[in-house]
Amino acid sequence: MLSEYQGGTTATLVDIRESLVRQRGQALADGIGLLSIQRRVEGDRIGHCGLIVGRGHFEEQEIAYELLPRVHSFGNATEAARAVVEAAFDTGRRRIWSTVRACNKPSLRVLEKIGFHPDHSVIDERGELIYLVRNAL
Ligand SMILES: CC(C)(COP(=O)(O)OP(=O)(O)OC[C@H]1O[C@@H](n2cnc3c(N)ncnc32)[C@H](O)[C@@H]1OP(=O)(O)O)[C@@H](O)C(=O)NCCC(=O)NCCS
Repeated sequence: MLSEYQGGTTATLVDIRESLVRQRGQALADGIGLLSIQRRVEGDRIGHCGLIVGRGHFEEQEIAYELLPRVHSFGNATEAARAVVEAAFDTGRRRIWSTVRACNKPSLRVLEKIGFHPDHSVIDERGELIYLVRNAL
């Protein structure tokens, strides 16, 4: 996935493997993490979606997702994110956050489609970062 994004990556396979091992260790320790998104018909894995602590805290986690560029705009992120949010609320969680750059229109649209709303923004060295939230019904 890293190599398919514009500009690619300078990370080596070893770096990426190590980072995945670290992420998996963290997921096992926390009981939450990113899950692969696999298409039912094609059977291929096209990205990931799940809960992370992110910029939040353990009691109120963030949803995160990323898909291969060649499958963007087919509704896949929305479907995956909706499933993660529903599963998260089914476990008794009451609130889920997401933090998105103001320039990331596709991600903001995904969140809008699944019922998140902007709560506040912060400005950092990379520009505006929007904190969005969705409460359990
Ligand atoms: C964000 C991301 C996961 C969206 O995945 P996706 O499968 O394309 O999302 P969906 O198809 O479910 O929905 C995308 C929506 O954004 C819209 N969209 C796409 N580009 C847009 C743009 N430039 N401006 C406004 N809306 C845009 C699409 O039309 C679609 O909305 P619609 O269903 O109303 O037509 C994908 O772009 C991605 O992997 N980006 C890089 C990683 C990333 O930014 N992750 C989130 C970090 S906060």
